[in-house]
Amino acid sequence: MSSHEPQRAQHREYPEPSEGGRPVPWFVVAWIGVLILWGIGYYAWHIGWPLTGGDSRTAVEQAAPGAAVDGEKLFTAQCSACHQPTGQGVPGTFPPLAGSEWMQGDPALVVAIVHDGLQGPITVAGEEYQGSMPAFADKLSPDELAAVLSHERQAWGNEGEPVDSALVKKHEERFAERGAWTVDELRNTFPTPE
Ligand code: HEC
Repeated sequence: MSSHEPQRAQHREYPEPSEGGRPVPWFVVAWIGVLILWGIGYYAWHIGWPLTGGDSRTAVEQAAPGAAVDGEKLFTAQCSACHQPTGQGVPGTFPPLAGSEWMQGDPALVVAIVHDGLQGPITVAGEEYQGSMPAFADKLSPDELAAVLSHERQAWGNEGEPVDSALVKKHEERFAERGAWTVDELRNTFPTPE
């Protein structure tokens, strides 16, 4: 055993293995191409088709046939963030719906306010407000708008008669798409509180 030993060990070893180059078969490349084209074509073909993946039904359509729309739930979801769960509003910022002479007033008047929105000064229960109430025409169907108003007009001790969805449809026929009302415009168009 001498200094030759390490050299012999080197002779025994094989060269480093290296990966053989094997090209991807042409038909695999062609198939990937076909799949990409199919994918693009599928999207292009469906542009403008109604979306069926998500659930785009309104609350009314989702409810079991014949089931009434839940006005209280709609109030919680759509109105209570500003007018507060108690309907009392926020002094100086959001007027109350509870005890409001507007909310309990002419049904066509409240339909107008909620359908199209309201801006500018308004006095509610003796307090002056100057804010902006968003329109709900795009968020609530006529059935839903009627249901949420009917709930609010009888909640918290309010005493207003229920609102029928036919009234909302009449409103839409009469005024089509218009912007937010001002109190002056409301006074010229509907019976309004003092
Ligand atoms: C983003 C906040 C906001 C939301 C959400 C909101 N409101 Fe209002 N609402 C206001 C403001 C602000 C006013 C006062 C507007 C003004 O000063 O001209 C108002 C005024 C009103 C009025 C007339 C005054 C009164 O207090 O009676 C009614 C009726 C009303 N809202 C009903 C509703 C209903 C119903 C909903 C839900 C469908 C709703 N609001 C959702 C902010 C909101």
